[in-house]
Amino acid sequence: MKIILIRVIIVAGLIFTFSCNKENKSVSHPNINIESKIDSILSLLTLEEKVDLCHAQSKFSTKGVERLGIPEIWMSDGPHGVRAEISWDSWDYAGWTNDSITAFPALTCLAATFNPELAGDYGFNLGEEARFRNKDVLLGPGVNIYRTPFNGRNFEYMGEDPFLASTMVVPYIKGVQKNGVAACVKHYALNNQEHWRDEVNVEVSDRALHEIYLPAFKVAVQDAKAWALMGAYNKFRGQYTTHHELLTNKILKGDWGYDGVVISDWSSAHNTLEAANNGLDIEMGTGTDGLGFTTENHYSKYYLADPFLEKLKTGEISEEVLNDKVRRVLRLRYRTNLSENRPLGRANNIEHHEVAREVASEGIVLLKNEDNFFPIKDKAGLTIAVIGENATRSMTAGGGSSELKPKFEISPLQGIQERYRKATVLHTMGFESGRSEYDIVHPSTLDQDSLKVEAIKLAEKADIVLFVGGLNKSHLQDCEGDDRQQYGLPFGQEELIGEISKVNKNLGFILVTGNSVEMPWLDKVKGLLETWYLGSMAGHAIADVVSGDVNPSGKLPFTFPKKLTDNAAHYFGVESYPGVHINNEKTRNSETALLNAEIKSQVSPTQEYKEGILVGYRWHDTKEIEPLYAFGYGLSYTSFNIENISADNETFNQDGKITITCDVTNTGDMAGAEVVQIYIGKSDSKIERAKKELKGFTKVNLEKGENKTVSITVDVSKLKYYNESKSDWDFETGDYEIYVGNASNNISKTLKVTVL
Ligand code: BGC
Repeated sequence: MKIILIRVIIVAGLIFTFSCNKENKSVSHPNINIESKIDSILSLLTLEEKVDLCHAQSKFSTKGVERLGIPEIWMSDGPHGVRAEISWDSWDYAGWTNDSITAFPALTCLAATFNPELAGDYGFNLGEEARFRNKDVLLGPGVNIYRTPFNGRNFEYMGEDPFLASTMVVPYIKGVQKNGVAACVKHYALNNQEHWRDEVNVEVSDRALHEIYLPAFKVAVQDAKAWALMGAYNKFRGQYTTHHELLTNKILKGDWGYDGVVISDWSSAHNTLEAANNGLDIEMGTGTDGLGFTTENHYSKYYLADPFLEKLKTGEISEEVLNDKVRRVLRLRYRTNLSENRPLGRANNIEHHEVAREVASEGIVLLKNEDNFFPIKDKAGLTIAVIGENATRSMTAGGGSSELKPKFEISPLQGIQERYRKATVLHTMGFESGRSEYDIVHPSTLDQDSLKVEAIKLAEKADIVLFVGGLNKSHLQDCEGDDRQQYGLPFGQEELIGEISKVNKNLGFILVTGNSVEMPWLDKVKGLLETWYLGSMAGHAIADVVSGDVNPSGKLPFTFPKKLTDNAAHYFGVESYPGVHINNEKTRNSETALLNAEIKSQVSPTQEYKEGILVGYRWHDTKEIEPLYAFGYGLSYTSFNIENISADNETFNQDGKITITCDVTNTGDMAGAEVVQIYIGKSDSKIERAKKELKGFTKVNLEKGENKTVSITVDVSKLKYYNESKSDWDFETGDYEIYVGNASNNISKTLKVTVL
């Protein structure tokens, strides 16, 4: 009797909470802690209800338990804005008219700001939009490390350096979650290319895993306390990463103490026993891999649905395994749609647009500025020819799951036209590529020769040409699902730039990409801005920088190699990227009864990350391969001096902190911002090490002529390396070099310190 009464009270509490939340009111819960609430609910759930909490009920939602008032979970991509509503059971858009949002700049741009505070604003404002759209989980941010410029999804990530990605991802996640919306950090782990992503098996050393590929996930979990994490499609050491004994059970949930949910990528689960026992909590998206698109009740066929239930009933899988998952999915609810005082959120408001613009203009990187080509003053009599398809093409459409439906998207052309009121701004496309569609390359529909002829004519009569080109969000460009296939610019742009430069030397390039590109045309352009994918406010942000209203302060979050084979992943050939098929004929022929997916897994391509820890600038520096543009590089319209550089001591204990101090002076003619970067190396190391690694940075704003003293503190523990023989982090005592500068290849001073 007593038990029944308690149950009724709990159920009533849940129902009350849920109905109030539906009205967007904040509610208070009975004053008992979440874990004990979860325990009480667990005892009320049937086996079937518990299993139902562990898999999708539609493309982007999971079931609740109606009779107990446990709400559904609703998710949305991520990571640059809240995606438009998708249909219940297909990838088609649902056609809502109230789901347009603010498109924030791509994460490469956010990383390029080197401004963690701005990452916090980005996350918070984006989280508000997710909350407004009634989402419980935002599928982002992405922190896969930039390994190759071919990866079609690099634009969704935060660059090649684990320290930079870690520093930027923490405030992003905290910001999102302040809204009672879970950030879902993805794709865990080693999803560093799109080509063959569903099957490729990654082989990488423990050292590179822990030092390069996992740190940003680790801080997402331990420092930012992310409530959700998404598995990846690929395999690692022969096992799918979404249900991985080492990655999920041992490292994530064991060593790191993660108490949130692991969500599969859409269709990345492959096996009931592994999904159950290796830490997958919520299975999403299955059905695109042969389980059938249209099968009735196909969600019940998921690996974590009926097949899971069967194995629980027969005892093949223990109920404790299920209970652990249920605890996590209920915890997710208490953190999101059952949480107290959940704010209401808002979308498309001026503050969000301003944050999007600020991130966009702060992330733009000035790469070249011969004869002070930029900024361009607005004046009567000046004719600016804006040439290139990217001047008008939407860059929020396409790209895969990060595609957005912004309320508006200011194109570069519109931004420039609105900013330049006295000058004459003319435009022609110059080149055209087909429309963007997932997995399909559409050919151009216009006559490229006529476009080129017109562009040259326009360039001839202009005083200044701004070429707006680069890549776009189509298949085989900067897009999910596959990788780029050429390092150079596509759609005849290289030739077009050559032709334009013959008739007008006053040529600047606004490069719109999420990746580095080869630049055989570099000496033909006087000015070069890397402007990424900037979202709703793209054109305004570009005009801010082109006009000088904003002084550029972005720094590259990844290296631009001169040629593809200068990049470490490509240097080692196809075994390193994209991998090779180890054709296991014996397995294929003997196991005719294997399911398609299983056969595929027997013959999956394998790739070996042969460069180990030497990713990005670590490779270029250590092997002395000069990059075209280095990690951390970016010019300004003003100039800075970094001087009086010193450390607070010469010797440090292993649990100490090194504080580096320097004076930064703005020696030019306008206000600006500089990023002081601290790299540390150990040239006499007994083990292989990169020449130097980023360990600290700070962005400092300075008025013209102003001088500031800045201090950056590095925990000595950050100098540890991952010792494979001990399977743990380890120290090398002795001397270290501290490099202080404003780019990985522009060091003002090197200090020596000793660690005892
Ligand atoms: C992507 C994820 C995305 C999911 C849902 C997958 O194909 O890899 O990043 O969140 O789809 O759209």
